[in-house]
Parts: sequence; C-alpha cells; structure tokens
Amino acid sequence: MGRLARWRAFRRDMFASQPARLYHAKMAEMKAPFYRSFTVPDPALARQILDDHEAYPKSAFLADTLGPLLGRAVFVTNGAEWARARAVIDPAFSGGRVREMTPQIHAAGQVMLSGIWAGIVEVEAMTARATADVILRAVFSRTIDDARARAIFGTFQTYQRAQPLASPVDLLRLPKWIPRRRRGRRAARQLRLMVADLIADRDGTEDDLLSRLSGPKDSGTGAAFSAEELVDQAVMFLLAGHETSASGLSWALYCLALSPADQLRAAAEVASCAPTEFAKMPFLRDVWREALRLYPPVPMLPREASKAHSLRGRPVRPGDPVILSPWHSGRHERHWDRPHEFDPSRWSRTVPHHAWFPFSAGPRICPGAGFATAEGIIFLALILQNWRLDVVEGDVPRPVAHLTVRSESGIRIRFSRRKTRI
Ligand code: HEM
Repeated sequence: MGRLARWRAFRRDMFASQPARLYHAKMAEMKAPFYRSFTVPDPALARQILDDHEAYPKSAFLADTLGPLLGRAVFVTNGAEWARARAVIDPAFSGGRVREMTPQIHAAGQVMLSGIWAGIVEVEAMTARATADVILRAVFSRTIDDARARAIFGTFQTYQRAQPLASPVDLLRLPKWIPRRRRGRRAARQLRLMVADLIADRDGTEDDLLSRLSGPKDSGTGAAFSAEELVDQAVMFLLAGHETSASGLSWALYCLALSPADQLRAAAEVASCAPTEFAKMPFLRDVWREALRLYPPVPMLPREASKAHSLRGRPVRPGDPVILSPWHSGRHERHWDRPHEFDPSRWSRTVPHHAWFPFSAGPRICPGAGFATAEGIIFLALILQNWRLDVVEGDVPRPVAHLTVRSESGIRIRFSRRKTRI
C-alpha cells in the first residue's frame, strides 16, 4: 500500500493501514520526511513502556484534543497532577466497592432484558444504551429514563460523531500544520454545563461514585476534587466507562453466538447462579477475557517519548509517538496458540498473561477494570439465562477501530428464548 493510500485508510479505520507484520514483530518504525513513530506489539516491551509513565507520558495533543470536553481529567494529565487524581479515584473502586455497585448493574440489565424480543437484534445499539444506563446509575444515581440524563447522552453522541476520542492526526502527533477537525466544541461545552447542573442539583444524600470523589479526602494531599475538577472527572467517567463496556459486551455476545459449545457451557454455568454472583462464574469470566483479547475495546494506547533514548537499537527523540497495541499483543503469533480463534478454555491452560492488557497495564491501568468486568459478566449472565444466541447467516461484522473497536455496520445476532433452564 502506498503512503497516500495508507494515510487515507488510516483516516477511515486505524486497522486498515496497519501492516500484517505487527502480528509477529517486536516493534515497527513508521517513517516519513516530517514524522516518525513506533508501534510496539511485543508484549514484554509494551509492558516495560506502560510501566514507565514518566519516560512515556500521554501526549500533550491528547489533552489539547479532549480539553474542551474533559478539562484536566485524569485521562489526559501526567505527573503530579495525574497522581493526585488517581489517589482520589482509586479508592472509589477498591475493596468491596465494586460489589456495592452490582445492584445498579443488575437493575440496568433488567431494563435491557425487558427491551429484547425474539428475532434479530442489533446488539451494538442495545449495549450502548444499557451501559449508558449503568454508568449514569453508578456515577450520578440517575437512570437513562431520566430526561436530563438522556439529554446528556444525546449530546454525548453528537460530540462523538463530531470529534472522535483521538483523531488519527492526534494519535500520531503529526505536525501542527496538518488540519485537525475541531468540531464538537459546542457539544462539549453543552455537555459540561449539563453535567455541572446535575452535580449542582444533588442534595448530598446520594451514595454513588461522585459522592466518593467529592467526599473522602486524598490521603497524600488532604484534598478531594474541587467543583470544577469534579465536572472534569464526571464527564470523563461517562466517556471512559460507557463506549468501552458497550464494545466489549457486543463482541462477547458475537463470540458466544459463533461458538455454540462455549455458549452452552456458559449458559449451564449461569443457570443456577444469581446473575450478580459473578465470582461464581469462572467460565463466563474466561469468555469475557477471551472476547477482550480478540476485541480489546481500546485497541491502541498512544504515548510520547519524554527524552532521547533508543528502543531496540533505534534512536527515539523526545516527542516521538510510541504506540502500544492491545489488539496486536493479544493476537501476537509468537505468544498465543491459534491467536485469532475464540477459545475461552485456553484460560484454564497456560496463557501468556503479560500479552493481555485490554485495560492497559502499569500505573495508568484502567481504574474501572473490576467494575467493567463485573458489568460484562452480569450482563452476559442475564442474557444467557433467558436467550439463546445464533449468528445471522452471511452477516459477518467487520471490526473497525474508531473511538473503540466497533463493527463497520453493526452486529446482528438472532435471539431465541431459552425454553428450559439448563
Ligand atoms: C470494557 C470496559 C473498559 C475497557 C476495555 C477500558 C480500557 C481502558 C484503557 C485501555 C485505559 C488506558 C488508556 C491509556 O492508557 O491510553 C483506560 C483508562 C481509564 N478508564 Fe477504562 N476501560 C473500561 C471501562 C471503564 C469504566 C467502566 C470506567 C469507570 C467507571 C473506566 C475508567 C477509566 C479511567 C478513569 C481511565 C484513566 C486512567 C488514567 O489515565 O490513569 N474505564 N481504560
């Protein structure tokens, strides 16, 4: 593929331009006269880079692109500012906190179930609505049926259509003179105002993620988030915790539809469990892990070198983009047996755990990983207890990497009611 064709393909879909050698290489360098970047599919090297967040911080361009929406939220900051925010956020997800949030997940799952009818269901739309409901309940104690909460998600969708999370130009940190799409600023402003309003209307009796972020003090500095910071972090939770979970769930459902034997085994496991008892569903957890291995919702993690050094003998300059790829590491041919096949049973054998990092790794690992896993398992359990899933003949979804890994034109699955409990 020529350079121009590759660039066009990249703008359409980040995967389309990626060379096939990334499935077996340790590192690939991309060079142009004005530009160079490194993609690192080798799991050990990727982990090393993710561990060293000072040598490989998030790029200033990310903060620039998402600033109008996220302000100084933890997702875009670095150094002491980032560490202070994590010290407040991490305790909100630690210990038994995730378990305390399972009733909200279960309630949103019941609403999702009530909207399913036998026949062909487009699951990307279904899961987007259901995970939006979960995150609204968990963060704000609101539901998707609340008019203001629904308005937030409507505006959010407008924003996403106008301004992807990281445009290719930003991901690759191309020079400033390359035009960027800067639409979506109005939607971002509106969103922040609506979220600020929702926060202002709280009466202080709520027990949710937001109350945990505004209440307990950060042990290091003694300071919780200010009102402005709270808006930044709340908007970020909506962004980080909704699309990602919807993507993971949609692909997990498709994998189960494709694999009747695994589906039957998972359905048998969940038949006698309460759906919230996610710790009692080890096979379903493996289904979730395997789906995220094949379809990591965040396929690429962009970083930027902070100082001159060398990577595998190649010189790296400060500011060079270094991109980690959960997609390629999770399918790396030197590390995984039958890397492109869905086989949840592999998790009960020996697997290269270090090559699996859909939630990132190291100090910047996703703080919502435990929550998202509980959500994924509970939703899958609720669906499998009631429905059998089958692929629609000839309808094969093609994954494309936009904001998260999505299908080019939706994922359709045939739902038939399970007549008897297994
Ligand atoms: C399947 C669902 C999810 C996946 C695959 C996922 C994946 C990720 C990944 C890969 C990152 C790191 C991005 C990077 O370093 O460039 C991240 C960061 C983050 N995620 Fe998640 N996430 C999921 C769900 C959630 C949920 C439910 C929440 C909150 C309720 C959440 C909150 C965050 C936050 C706050 C960060 C920023 C952490 C930091 O920069 O230190 N995520 N997530």
